[in-house]
Amino acid sequence: MNITIENKKLNSWIKEVEDLCQPDSIYVCNGSSEEYSRLIDELTKSGIATPLKKRSNSFLFRSDPSDVARVEDNTYISTSTREEAGPTNNWIEPDKLKKIMLELYKGCMKGRTMYVIPFSMGPIGSPISKIGVEISDSPYVVINMHIMTRVSERVLELLGTDGDFIPCLHSIGAPLAEGEKDSMWPCAPLEKKYISHFPEENLIWSYGSGYGGNALLGKKCLALRIASAMARREGWMAEHMLILRLTNPEGKKYHIAAAFPSACGKTNLAMMQPSLPGWKCECVGDDIAWMKVGPDGRLYAINPENGFFGVAPGTSYDTNPMAMDTLKENVLFTNCALTDDGDVWWEGIDGDTPSHLIDWKGNDWTPDSKTDAAHPNSRFTAPASQCPVICEDWEKPEGVPIDIFIFGGRRSTVVPLVNEAFNWDHGVFLGATAGSETTAANIGAVGNLRRDPFAMTPFCGYNMGDYFQHWLNMGETLGDKAPKVFYVNWFRKSNDGKFIWPGFSDNSRVLKWMCDRVDGTVSSRETPIGLLPNEGDLDISGIDLSEDDMKELLKIDADAWKAEIPDIENHFSKFGNRLPERLHKQLQEFIKRLG
Ligand code: OXD
Ligand code: MN
Repeated sequence: MNITIENKKLNSWIKEVEDLCQPDSIYVCNGSSEEYSRLIDELTKSGIATPLKKRSNSFLFRSDPSDVARVEDNTYISTSTREEAGPTNNWIEPDKLKKIMLELYKGCMKGRTMYVIPFSMGPIGSPISKIGVEISDSPYVVINMHIMTRVSERVLELLGTDGDFIPCLHSIGAPLAEGEKDSMWPCAPLEKKYISHFPEENLIWSYGSGYGGNALLGKKCLALRIASAMARREGWMAEHMLILRLTNPEGKKYHIAAAFPSACGKTNLAMMQPSLPGWKCECVGDDIAWMKVGPDGRLYAINPENGFFGVAPGTSYDTNPMAMDTLKENVLFTNCALTDDGDVWWEGIDGDTPSHLIDWKGNDWTPDSKTDAAHPNSRFTAPASQCPVICEDWEKPEGVPIDIFIFGGRRSTVVPLVNEAFNWDHGVFLGATAGSETTAANIGAVGNLRRDPFAMTPFCGYNMGDYFQHWLNMGETLGDKAPKVFYVNWFRKSNDGKFIWPGFSDNSRVLKWMCDRVDGTVSSRETPIGLLPNEGDLDISGIDLSEDDMKELLKIDADAWKAEIPDIENHFSKFGNRLPERLHKQLQEFIKRLG
């Protein structure tokens, strides 16, 4: 080992993992730029990383075609009873799961270096932050963790001899025999991949995959699945939410946290630049919010991450100019296409489609090819500090006070552009029933409605019925200091199948209405589904939207909503007696309002 570790728990865990996984060597990471460069050099020399001529200090990686996304079917919440994990999670009893995985871990790091990665989720030392240590046999994971979390020797100092941390064990599951040549992206076959969480002991075990959320264990595994369970025990919130700061022309600041299922433009909204003159939007985070009640009784949020792990396809100067400007240098790209002049390319990026590319599998590609050049889940890993509109307070240890929660989804019909919850319980009902139409990015038929409560279905580390109750409890703690809750749908379509609302920077017009509602400067009209803007209250000056379009965007069709009730009832029935009584009541009241 390259340094001496003082922390007792960490020392004995490293020893235990060394005995089990039998690596050739152990290296403790310090998070320095020298360390990053050294690993990148090694990966470049072995042909695994491709340096990009067009982007300084940026590299392209290609994963194995079998290892391209989070594997939800192989992801487990392993609590002592199935009931604790609830109906939305895969469950295997802890002893049984550990037995299976211990067998897999045996000798799994042979021929490889075992990296010990001490990291902080959230600014180092913040009262909301948590310390994790990931042990991984993947140098690709180390450099991604450098960007996505705060890897530092200071974390070890903070741990001292007796400090606690969340152990995150990761192996790609591909030991090397003596003299065996390594492959470009070693990993285990799907049936041997396990992404396991033991929330009752704050423990993460991941085996077999080197990709994204399966392997960068600070993100979905720690900051959402384990953290959500900790948050419930400790009275705070870990949510799948972007955080943004909106400043009005008078300089008043509002902070918004918003949850959307994937493929609904979360990163785009997080970095949106308002089309409304004088309004400013800054990004605090694009994926995860940790929130605690502050000394003044308001809810304060931090972004526990240090970077963006964003989906590349669809990102362009049209859809997200601030993301494009974030990607100019110091970026890791995975499964994007490569241009002949040494840049990355993906479907939906600006400009003409090149006549020749190397696709994400490393093959020649031309516009006549039948396949995508970039994988639909190809990614960029970029430091958040490089975002031109990163909020100056994004690393403030105490976080930013949240004024507004937004839920939403992709709905071509029925759901209006925006509505406001009547009160906290109704807001929890809106979050609990949130749904989105499936897109090409999801498995299954395109256009199916899928309920994804709070956009947390794949990320809640305990029974989701209890999670709903936790939201209700938080409302009680916050009382009249609770954020206002809204529901949005940017995706309503006209009869000819076109999106009616322009979206992107014009979404600021909807956010402005929310701020006006927070300030009490505009009224609203009561409908069975919630409070809607009065005619003329949404500022649509300067955009090409007819009165009829606006009417359509804010139309409530009671019969169409009534037709949704069986689906909501079916959704709620899955939670059995864990569904809070207050949500039953919300549903009954909703049915009554619809008449
Ligand atoms: C993500 C996701 O990668 O939500 O952020 O799937
Ligand atoms: Mn996400």
